[in-house]
Amino acid sequence: LQREMSTLPRVYVTRQIPPEGLKILRESGQVQFELWDSDDIPVPRKELLQKVKGVDGLLCVLTEKIDAELLDAAGPNLKVLSTMSVGFDHLSLEELKKRSDQNIIGIRVGYTPEVLTDAVAELTVALLLTTSRRLIEATHEAKTGGWGTWRTLWLCGHELANSTVGILGLGRIGVAIAERLAPFKVKKFIYTDLEPRPELASVINAEYVSLDELAKQSDFLAVCCALTPETKEICNKDLFSKMKNTSIFINTSRGGVVNQEDLYEALSTGQIAGAGLDVTVPEPLPINHQLFTLKNCVILPHIASASYSTRNAMSALAANNLLCGLRGEAMIKELKL
Ligand code: DGY
Repeated sequence: LQREMSTLPRVYVTRQIPPEGLKILRESGQVQFELWDSDDIPVPRKELLQKVKGVDGLLCVLTEKIDAELLDAAGPNLKVLSTMSVGFDHLSLEELKKRSDQNIIGIRVGYTPEVLTDAVAELTVALLLTTSRRLIEATHEAKTGGWGTWRTLWLCGHELANSTVGILGLGRIGVAIAERLAPFKVKKFIYTDLEPRPELASVINAEYVSLDELAKQSDFLAVCCALTPETKEICNKDLFSKMKNTSIFINTSRGGVVNQEDLYEALSTGQIAGAGLDVTVPEPLPINHQLFTLKNCVILPHIASASYSTRNAMSALAANNLLCGLRGEAMIKELKL
């Protein structure tokens, strides 16, 4: 048995992932894997660089930077990289591509789109309503003595009925958010992207507009784009200055798409009405960060996909992508490099 084991492809898993994924790896009989057996702290970089030496496969989460240093440490055996995330800004695609060009087989990359769309859309709606109807402020007032008599304008917010909702980056998640918001009697959906996406837009009857128009017209602006060099800090002073001072800004994509200094400025001066963020730079956001001082900013600790069923589905898909890749078969969800 030992001899058999030693010929199986070696895999390193950088986190104690949810049980469904681990079960698939364990029961596959296809790999021998080692695991960073904690979910509370990420594997220290030094340990990671040691552990990946000579592996055939790597299953990671978004806290691991997969860059030249790591790929060098892994060496030429590495054939498959599987990330348990839909986002892939933690992977240096440039480096992966370069190595794929040099190496006949190349490194293949799997990720986990689709299985988390519902969970992320649901959380985005929850965050939007929490922010626009000022729920965190309200519960705080209720339990700390701020609740006096019923007042006519106290804790008033902004409602979705008759509003224009703007989506920055229209993909599956943007569509799923709009589908959930439509029953709240939204008047109009608008979106911007690198180019019009008529097929997706027709599902939610959304109109394609420029980034400028998106900022100007949106009563609620939801950021749903991937973080790329083009979208880095795309939400900045320029964008916020065009938004209405009654607008609500929501980000469940990546913190890097926002210039946080500019957002602080926009929120603290009343340039915009509120912001709900599930993602920040850095993560975790230090508790003394200026954004935490604002009543009109709701900050969540990157939990958009955090439902038991979704996280298990993500771990299962990441495990299956890895196993397919190691067998030399098409992955279920493979990133084209
Ligand atoms: C992702 O998958 O990229 C999310 O940010 C975490 O689910």
